[in-house]
Amino acid sequence: MTLQPTDLPAAPRTAPSGAAILERQRGRESAARTYARSFPIVPARAQGMTIEDTDGRRYLDCLSGAGTLALGHNHPVVLEAIQRTVSSGAPLHVLDLATPEKDEFTDALFATLPGDFADKARIHFCGPAGTDAVEAALKLMQTATGRRGVLGFTGAYHGMTAGALAASGGVGTKTPVPGIAADVTRLPYPYSYRCPFGVGGEGGAQISADYVERLLDDPNGGVVPPAAMILEAVQGEGGAVPAPDAWLREMRRITAEREIPLIVDEVQTGVGRTGAFWAVEHSGIVPDAMVMSKAIGGSLPLAVIVYHEDYNGWLPGAHTGTFRGNTLAMATGTATLRYVSREGLVERAAAVGARMTERLTALRSELPVIGDVRGRGLMIGVELVDAEAEPDACGARPFAPQLAAQVRDACLERGLIVELGGRFDSTVRLLPPLIITDEQVEAVLDRLTDAIAAVTATQNAGAGA
Ligand SMILES: Cc1ncc(COP(=O)(O)O)c(C=O)c1O
Repeated sequence: MTLQPTDLPAAPRTAPSGAAILERQRGRESAARTYARSFPIVPARAQGMTIEDTDGRRYLDCLSGAGTLALGHNHPVVLEAIQRTVSSGAPLHVLDLATPEKDEFTDALFATLPGDFADKARIHFCGPAGTDAVEAALKLMQTATGRRGVLGFTGAYHGMTAGALAASGGVGTKTPVPGIAADVTRLPYPYSYRCPFGVGGEGGAQISADYVERLLDDPNGGVVPPAAMILEAVQGEGGAVPAPDAWLREMRRITAEREIPLIVDEVQTGVGRTGAFWAVEHSGIVPDAMVMSKAIGGSLPLAVIVYHEDYNGWLPGAHTGTFRGNTLAMATGTATLRYVSREGLVERAAAVGARMTERLTALRSELPVIGDVRGRGLMIGVELVDAEAEPDACGARPFAPQLAAQVRDACLERGLIVELGGRFDSTVRLLPPLIITDEQVEAVLDRLTDAIAAVTATQNAGAGA
């Protein structure tokens, strides 16, 4: 059941076999390697949504570099930008000096921002990873407020460097690093299916907002005035959990009334993925700072923060770094931002995402291991559960991490790359590129459905034996 696009260039036949490469890298790479564990394949070529491995097998890529590839792999406008820039003789590396590519990228990025934010915005180019931009945003607000603490949320993911890791929710990655989260106050994110208050829906989200407000105002609540609140409008690694718009507006009100800067981490949600160019647009909130990476580089590494000019109190060199001026990434980023806007891909992400979510939701009656289907635009989560167990008061059944891993493997066997996320890695995450075709939508849904049905059937057969 593999897709056979005709537009991949002919495969070079000189590469060593996939098995040999996998074996060698297993012996040389660190124990912390991640995706290489879930996907024992060796990509050799890629185009659009299709990856071909060294053995000639083709896969539909629904991971898209964890949401990086808005235009899929090796899109013609991206390749053209690389070729044009290389042949122009532009310097590929000039620290953070001004270049025509940086100027154009800044123009292109500012053109996508909500007007009331863009008008008074400053941009800072960071080291080329989302996590460095998160560090920069936190440091900016600590400098501006003279305060240290951060308000972060359950289920959050902001990266792996110290401040970003501290603000993230994952207990497993923080436990081996003593003292890492000392300055973070953890607040409940509105995760409707598994509501921290056992209520769910808008009601559960309102309790979360009330809790945050009361905690901040409680003179004995233990929270000294913080430097910032940081949140994702849709939690990505957390399992594609969207926050209700009303809750986001509450967070904006609560922080504004208490002069707490609000940082929205748009590293994964940006550039059309959620069906708005920036996820903040759904609720209409205007944050004090936005963190951006992944898709803004058009496949190449790039990360920035954009923030209100009032916070521009840094000294020169306050957040420096050698790789803060990647000419090629600025060129591919500009090409991508413009293409997404010009070709209506934001609207397409909203429409296709709604269709996929609806189809997956309808599958729940046929495949009861699908506990919850959620998301926004092309950021979709399918939470798998133990269908035999009793539901809790909110209707949620227990997590099914083993089943989810089997489904991911069964998808790979069927030529579909999907990754897991959320609590206990029980949520299948779909992050297809915004250029996904209708035919590819059908193929993704067919393969995923077939994989879930096959794994469930094997499980049931095992239970009955
Ligand atoms: C919301 C969010 N913030 C920050 C990061 C960290 O970005 P990076 O992996 O480029 O450091 C990620 C990565 O997945 C993310 O999803």
